[in-house]
Amino acid sequence: MRGVSQLLRTTLRPAAYLGRPSRLLPQAPRRTLVSAANLQFGQPLHETHPHLIAPGELTPGITALEYHHRRANLAKALPRNSIAVLASSDIQYRSGAVFYEFHQEPNFYYLTGFKEPQSLAVIEKGNSDVEYTFHLYVRPKDARAEQWDGARSGIQAAQDVFNADEAGDINNIPAKLPDIINGAKEIYTDALGNIRSKSAFSKYFGGLSTSQPEGFQKLLQASKVKPLRPLMNQIRLTKSENEILNMRKAGQVSGKVFTDAMRTPFTTEKDLWTTMDYSFKMNGLDGWAYIPVVAGGRNGLSIHYVRNDQPLKEGEMVLVDAGGEYGGYITDITRTWPVNGRFTDPQKDLYEMILRVQRSVVSLCREDADMSLDKLHRVTENGLRDGLKRLGFDVSGDALDVLFPHHVGHYIGLDVHDAPGYPRTDRLRAGHCITVEPGIYVPDDERWPKHFRNMAIRIEDSIAVMEEGPYVLTTEAVKEVVDIEALRR
Ligand code: GLY
Ligand code: MN
Ligand code: MN
Repeated sequence: MRGVSQLLRTTLRPAAYLGRPSRLLPQAPRRTLVSAANLQFGQPLHETHPHLIAPGELTPGITALEYHHRRANLAKALPRNSIAVLASSDIQYRSGAVFYEFHQEPNFYYLTGFKEPQSLAVIEKGNSDVEYTFHLYVRPKDARAEQWDGARSGIQAAQDVFNADEAGDINNIPAKLPDIINGAKEIYTDALGNIRSKSAFSKYFGGLSTSQPEGFQKLLQASKVKPLRPLMNQIRLTKSENEILNMRKAGQVSGKVFTDAMRTPFTTEKDLWTTMDYSFKMNGLDGWAYIPVVAGGRNGLSIHYVRNDQPLKEGEMVLVDAGGEYGGYITDITRTWPVNGRFTDPQKDLYEMILRVQRSVVSLCREDADMSLDKLHRVTENGLRDGLKRLGFDVSGDALDVLFPHHVGHYIGLDVHDAPGYPRTDRLRAGHCITVEPGIYVPDDERWPKHFRNMAIRIEDSIAVMEEGPYVLTTEAVKEVVDIEALRR
């Protein structure tokens, strides 16, 4: 493992490359000088994108040192003489050669900051509890391939910029991996599933079958292999200050975009979404975090309504569940507001009841309240049941399951539903980031009071749990009735 002092330096200093051009550009060994202006990497770095990445950072807001601490945390959680193997995502195709936008596998990204496909990371823990070896196998620089697919960072940068102790060519994986794997007592990985389903990537591992008749699958002998996800969930659950700042930026910008959208009259779901999508990007975010719900009137009764292709009707409300992303970190917001800017009385009654519950549950997002997601859910159910009763609903039987069919929240982070599979029964601690999103969806059914039928209202904020109080990451999205109505006056 490299010394921390080495990691404290910024990412690559261009000067470091000036004397070693052949190491930067193995495909062009005759070049004698690479000017800083000609440096090319497979992702934005400070040297090439100082407007996006600050000195010392590998990705927006996250330093090379923080990436080292993450790997060290994983190594600490691994038993001695074991390894963690992580595969990157691969490019997915929509049809033929038409590719989807690349999205890095979140655990791989969390540990490496490396944003290219067809890469493999191994965190190797030996006999020491304080040291680890970081292997990173990547696509080598290749002028011909880069002419088509854009720049790659290459093997030298895997070492010099991303701080791999052992960097190598992904093409050599069939020769390298057996030694690494056979030398480990236990292997923690979820990579088998990733690789099997991704044909372009799997060719590297297909090579293993030729050189090693037992192949990758057999190589990872079932008895030695354990799932990595539970360990990753554990270390990703508590966010660092920098991660919270990234989510705050995503929440602040997205919140303002929501408030601007509420201020503007729209006549279609599509126009409303298009304006918000454009505004996320125009205001410094990378783009949207998930396919949004933009649902006028009864369309909101379908929790995952994503067609977003209907006109918005005067007198109805619109429910928008959307958020932007910054440096890979997401925000998750829902607001519901009247299409014409003014709530009707029944809309206001139902809305204010849900808002009261939402506010009281948000106030419990602090470590000293001794809450879990499941406890917050029970508090929400009780609050909604009481509120609905006061509004004239018959709340007997399965009423609440019908009217409030989802959980009040989930963890957030790099993923919208972060730490998937992590128990919701665990106590919320400072640094955990979650959503609070009560909603009521009233079917067109005689069982429910007539004036509330076909209404769908959800109010969702992203929250960082702190020791003594919630840090609301999405506070710029207004939610009080008076504030929403004042926007159009
Ligand atoms: N936007 C997805 C969710 O709220 O869970
Ligand atoms: Mn959510
Ligand atoms: Mn949401």
